[in-house]
Amino acid sequence: MSARPGLAGLAALGVALAVSGCGSFGGSVTPVRAVEFGSELAIPPLAGSSVVDGVRTFDLTAQSGTSEFLPGVETPTWGFDGPYLGPTLRAERGERVAVRVTNELDEATSVHWHGMHLPPAMDGGPHQPVAPGQTWEPTWEIDQPAATLWYHPHPHGATEEHVYRGLAGLFLLDDDASRAAVLPSEYGVDDVPVVVQDKVFDDAGRLELQHDGGEPGTLGDTVMTNGTVGAYHEVTTERVRLRLLNGSTARTYAFGFADRPFDLVATDGGLLDAPVRLDEVRLAPGERAEIVVALEPGEVTRLRSADPDLGGIAASFAMGGNDAFDVLELRAGEDLAPSPAPSWGRSRHADDGELRAEDAATVRSFELAEREINGERMDMGRVDEVVTVGDTEVWEVRNAHPVPHSFHVHDVQFRILTVDGREPPPQLAGPKDTVYLEPHRTYRLLMRFEDYTDAEVPYMYHCHMLLHEDEGMMGQFLVVEPGETA
Ligand code: C2O
Ligand code: CU
Repeated sequence: MSARPGLAGLAALGVALAVSGCGSFGGSVTPVRAVEFGSELAIPPLAGSSVVDGVRTFDLTAQSGTSEFLPGVETPTWGFDGPYLGPTLRAERGERVAVRVTNELDEATSVHWHGMHLPPAMDGGPHQPVAPGQTWEPTWEIDQPAATLWYHPHPHGATEEHVYRGLAGLFLLDDDASRAAVLPSEYGVDDVPVVVQDKVFDDAGRLELQHDGGEPGTLGDTVMTNGTVGAYHEVTTERVRLRLLNGSTARTYAFGFADRPFDLVATDGGLLDAPVRLDEVRLAPGERAEIVVALEPGEVTRLRSADPDLGGIAASFAMGGNDAFDVLELRAGEDLAPSPAPSWGRSRHADDGELRAEDAATVRSFELAEREINGERMDMGRVDEVVTVGDTEVWEVRNAHPVPHSFHVHDVQFRILTVDGREPPPQLAGPKDTVYLEPHRTYRLLMRFEDYTDAEVPYMYHCHMLLHEDEGMMGQFLVVEPGETA
């Protein structure tokens, strides 16, 4: 294939840049190659829907196809309703939704609604596989604050591969508070989804997963946004909101700009209490952040990932800790429409009871090491934890392993009470469903299991580094009625 020399040449350039750009330590073992920012950012289309009997109904079809990420190279990929990634689903708080998920692949997959509060049988985890040729139709009511959620497959033992091949999309929720907020909100114009992923291409241009023992999984030398390598976005307003999703399988990023700060406005589960001015936000796989950045007319700047602080990991350079690279170019026009600084009143809905630590009835401990949580690998037939509906709990989570891990809990948005006994930094102070775990620190997470009992179908908690998840770093919990058992 003709692309081969070109790829090698670009990789060499990447090495040179990584070495010169990374201070005393030199390059990472997986340098990200530098690219031209010459392609317009693809914006995932908003999914169509129809309202059938009061239910907003979407269709999603998992299918295979090919994508041209690199000029002249056709790469086999998977996507929803297209060859790569999927459309953006969007719904309103209080609406009942249904999604008809059809699997046109020749192996089973599933679709999990990451960050969504919903019944376990609708969750799309490993217990809800969709066989080839089948359609699965979960339905639930949107009952949580406005947020940037996402969806992706969760088949037992194969999540990494399905996500890596391209099965992922955003699921945006709106509510009265988000509508009243002063925030850029024109989808794809000044409210821009940015799904960041890293890839490795083999000599034939196919996506390659590297299962060579490298931690925390495959770190790609090619970074793309919404499936576009080297993307730019034309900015037409004084401020732009980026909805960042780390849709990678293993890499942790530290997003920011070399020449300006930004306002962090929302984390995984929705708006913060107020905007926070930051230079950098670290996102591990599965985490989201909404940021608002200001530009002057005619300016060009780039969203980048600076070398992320992985938290006291000795061999951090081998795990992406020394990688610094540009991600997305923003090009401001000469005439920018006014766009006021972000602000909002109450971010919480009147009936969202405040989560209070003193209400916690139970404290559970989770220790992550190797590929185990509390000494066990995932077993589809074993229930690890049983929670009583209505309870507020503290989950004390610790990474006891000198390798990056993270912790994601299905069904809930949690608050991080403390990190090693101290108040969390602002980027961890909002609603979260996934958190990066620095080794040897203890994260106290506060959450409430409001409803949706099921004595048979469990929810998952797991490391969101997808190789780790597939290799067993996952457990299952049931939410039951008081007095009920598994
Ligand atoms: Cu985003 Cu259990 O997953
Ligand atoms: Cu892990």
